[in-house]
Amino acid sequence: MALTSELGKQIKLKEVEGTLLQSATVDNWSQIQSFEAKPDDLLICTYPKAGTTWIQEIVDMIEQNGDVEKCQRAIIQHRHPFIEWARPPQPSETGFHHVAQVGLELLSSSNPPASTSQSTKITDLLPPSFWENNCKFLYVARNAKDCMVSYYHFQRMNHMLPDPGTWEEYFETFINGKVVWGSWFDHVKGWWEMKDRHQILFLFYEDIKRNPKHEIRKVMQFMGKNLDETVLDKIVQETSFEKMKENPMTNRSTVSKSIMDQSISSFMRKGTVGDWKNHFTVAQNERFDEIYRKKMEGTSINFCMEL
Ligand code: A3P
Repeated sequence: MALTSELGKQIKLKEVEGTLLQSATVDNWSQIQSFEAKPDDLLICTYPKAGTTWIQEIVDMIEQNGDVEKCQRAIIQHRHPFIEWARPPQPSETGFHHVAQVGLELLSSSNPPASTSQSTKITDLLPPSFWENNCKFLYVARNAKDCMVSYYHFQRMNHMLPDPGTWEEYFETFINGKVVWGSWFDHVKGWWEMKDRHQILFLFYEDIKRNPKHEIRKVMQFMGKNLDETVLDKIVQETSFEKMKENPMTNRSTVSKSIMDQSISSFMRKGTVGDWKNHFTVAQNERFDEIYRKKMEGTSINFCMEL
């Protein structure tokens, strides 16, 4: 499948088990699937725009005992490489060649990986070694409407993803799961159903926003760490939206404009709960709620839609 981006580029997407993925990811699929997880690996899993960067920074701050300088050692994409991240070499991007590596290469050179990240449709797209080794998983879910809004703006500014079209067009694309990394509904439902059968800490973006210290403490305990209250307070402060928006190691300002054009929309855009109200029409909202009821039927999960 090829979709045309705003720049007139053909963005090639391919499918794995019905899930759209970037073609470079699919081209490296067997290598990704044969990734050898170690028993003490922690895998961060999220649907796109659910707060991946936020939880990555929180995990690294905990791992580094709140040492801000250590967390400045590299951009977040290198501290937590995406294992499915693969893209063709970009010869024009001088000084940026390492990003052109497959995420797996970054992982094998990290020392040792404190965590990895992957966005995948449902749990069965994961490399099997994560299950075989009974690894820990940290899943962050964000309400579907805010995810859709965030993803729409992300696709507008990210030239590695298809142009989203108008908001009305994107609404259809999203509810039909025709976005890269597949359907929000399948992703969230899949992980929610798995959460009691494995070592999965299931978090909500909205909870982290409402009570960051409480949620960060849960992550710390899940990681088997014990940090002082003052360190926890510092982590809360350093991982606030305002701080991370200014931090070049988290705000993607080092990524070339030809890949992410932040003059169109910031990577650290709003960081709020309920921005969907500024985008959804009354009719769209009613339709979405109906679709949500059907697709999530039988699931006990509950989302907070505004704070
Ligand atoms: P918005 O587009 O709604 O602002 P991801 O990292 O998975 O791509 O998710 C990006 C979303 O998380 C963006 O949402 C971004 O602003 C938000 N985000 C990133 N860091 C955050 C933080 N520290 N606090 C709150 N939201 C954050």
